[in-house]
Amino acid sequence: VNDRSAVLVRRAFASKSPRIRELLESVVRILDLDANVLLLGESGTGKDFLAELVHRTGRRSGGPFLKIDCANLPPDLFESELFGYEKGAFTDAHDRKTGKIELAQGGTLYFDEVGGLDLHLQAKLLRVFQERRITRLGGNASITLDARIIASSNVDLFEAVRAGTFRSDLYYRLNVMSLTLPPLRERREDIPILARRFLRRAAERYRRPAEDFSAESHSILRSYTWPGNVRELRNIAERAAILSTEPLAGPETLPTERFLSPRDILELAVAERWSLERLEAAYIAEVLRVTRNNRSRAADLLGINRKTLLEKRRKYGLP
Ligand SMILES: Nc1ncnc2c1ncn2[C@@H]1O[C@H](COP(=O)(O)OP(=O)(O)OP(=O)(O)O)[C@@H](O)[C@H]1O
Ligand SMILES: [Mg+2]
Repeated sequence: VNDRSAVLVRRAFASKSPRIRELLESVVRILDLDANVLLLGESGTGKDFLAELVHRTGRRSGGPFLKIDCANLPPDLFESELFGYEKGAFTDAHDRKTGKIELAQGGTLYFDEVGGLDLHLQAKLLRVFQERRITRLGGNASITLDARIIASSNVDLFEAVRAGTFRSDLYYRLNVMSLTLPPLRERREDIPILARRFLRRAAERYRRPAEDFSAESHSILRSYTWPGNVRELRNIAERAAILSTEPLAGPETLPTERFLSPRDILELAVAERWSLERLEAAYIAEVLRVTRNNRSRAADLLGINRKTLLEKRRKYGLP
């Protein structure tokens, strides 16, 4: 294995967490191989980030990186997008079109959220993964695929296999090498490192004075549960950079009510004379957080129906 790539990978992550370090060792081992990689982890933990890093530092860095959004592509467009077509393959096929799979030749194909594919498309892809050959719609020639395949999922695919919504043969094909990104709350040692990094970058971009968070801000950031993981941290750090007026960004640059316990919120509300509406908004935000955005559970806890919850969320602009 190339030492330079190993250094690049570790530097990109800048992590102190033993779990991330262990994961990066596996990453480094596969950089020069063509094994399929399956990236698992909650939303915002860095699956896209890692997929691009594997591409950039691996043996196919000279080739293209193509991301395929499996959860949002309409099923009827999926096949022609992916496989391309020959002129006359169907009524609107006025010209030949190269599919995304073919465009990834020599590079990396990243299937984002594979759990979102319906069973019919799973069968089509199984053939690609197994035989590494594709045929354009309406065509005869089969083309050999020479690309690395990475897939990601934020749902438990093994569970999906058991539930019958994900093909087991596809799962085992993809699962040659699976890497699970831990949620941010299980690697708290990385919160200050990432927070500072995101803050500095954004401060530079927006020409703001922030260089780091103050000690008090760091302690608030470290104690939060981060349901949105690294993405949420990045958003908050960038917002803090914009609001900063000094080199050390204090708690006033943070959306503090997001980090407070319900009890703290009550105390703050009384001290700052919040309106009942502001208190309600903060409470709903907290309940959504602890239920991990499970709307039915949140509505249950709040003693309102889901429709009312949705209305209030919209009214208060809650995520
Ligand atoms: N270790 C890291 N260092 C720097 N930035 C990171 C790191 N991990 C994640 N990020 C950033 O955090 C954000 C969220 O990461 P990413 O989009 O990769 O998450 P994801 O796991 O693909 O989420 P989803 O399941 O919602 O698609 C991105 O802006 C990404 O650049
Ligand atoms: Mg993603």
